[in-house]
Amino acid sequence: MGYRVTLIESGHHFMVEGHETILEAGLRSGIHLNYGCSSGNCGECKARLLSGEVQRQFHDFPLTEVEKMENTFLLCRSQPLTDITIAANEIHGSGDIPRQKIITRVSKINRHSTDLLLVELHTPRTKLLKFLPGQHIELTFNQKIKGDLPIASCPCNGMVLQLHCMREESPFSDYLFQSMKKSERVLIRGPYGQFSLDEELKQPIIFICEGIHFAPVKSLIEQCINLDLPQSLALFWMVSPPEEHYLNNYCRSLEVSLDNFRYHPLTLRERHTYPEIVERIVKDLPADTPHEIYIATNSALGDEVEAIFNKRREGFDTLKRMRRRQLPRS
Ligand code: FES
Repeated sequence: MGYRVTLIESGHHFMVEGHETILEAGLRSGIHLNYGCSSGNCGECKARLLSGEVQRQFHDFPLTEVEKMENTFLLCRSQPLTDITIAANEIHGSGDIPRQKIITRVSKINRHSTDLLLVELHTPRTKLLKFLPGQHIELTFNQKIKGDLPIASCPCNGMVLQLHCMREESPFSDYLFQSMKKSERVLIRGPYGQFSLDEELKQPIIFICEGIHFAPVKSLIEQCINLDLPQSLALFWMVSPPEEHYLNNYCRSLEVSLDNFRYHPLTLRERHTYPEIVERIVKDLPADTPHEIYIATNSALGDEVEAIFNKRREGFDTLKRMRRRQLPRS
């Protein structure tokens, strides 16, 4: 049996199950709670209990005696004993998140094909990366090989960062495909970018992505699922052969398990172009319903997709575009 936690300011709520702390349960549920060390040392996860009861652990020295008397407690060191209502700090936008610098380790390398790697990085338990779904990070190997990749997982498990890497012509890509080893140390900096979910909007959501740019979209979709958003979600994933929908089964399983999620894998055929595919997507949208559109493509195609929406829907929908950060070549 779990207990329900309600955040007084936003009205967000989530369930704490088993031996989870309130912080762990909130992050798992897609709530952007402010925190730092997650081990009772920094005090960044301070919250105030407004109703109900919590069980605190002794390790709560960041709190002053006055704060304790005022029912302030640490989210990362507490579990609810009843349903509770609390006042806690939530992160509302990318501007609320500080740039962080963390030494991580490569924990998994899945060579999906000769040109595609699915990689996982592990952060230390006491130094999780704070980020919003859809954001990206800078990676540095051996103090000199640098690159920038979107995070393909959501912050619900901040210790594991998934990355999708497509082979391209750069020293960074050469390093990933030829030299990167499991357990290797990687310095990450970030997060960067404003391609994040607008959780206040209640309109149907459409994700349009191309090839490897599915990665940040996967993070956004997982966030929608964690938040249990009720509106319809549609994913249009375009690829150009020999590229493939490399997580096709994952997307299909989401479609089977979620009533509000539709998956449209689209493959570029001869004599068709990506903009022609997008024209068809836009033509099929209901004329009387504004949508939230998330576009993750290369920047030239993104310009074309945006122009199609502006021409056909005249600013009717809310558009957000992923923009990849350009690093000087290492
Ligand atoms: S996150 Fe640092 S004390 Fe809770």
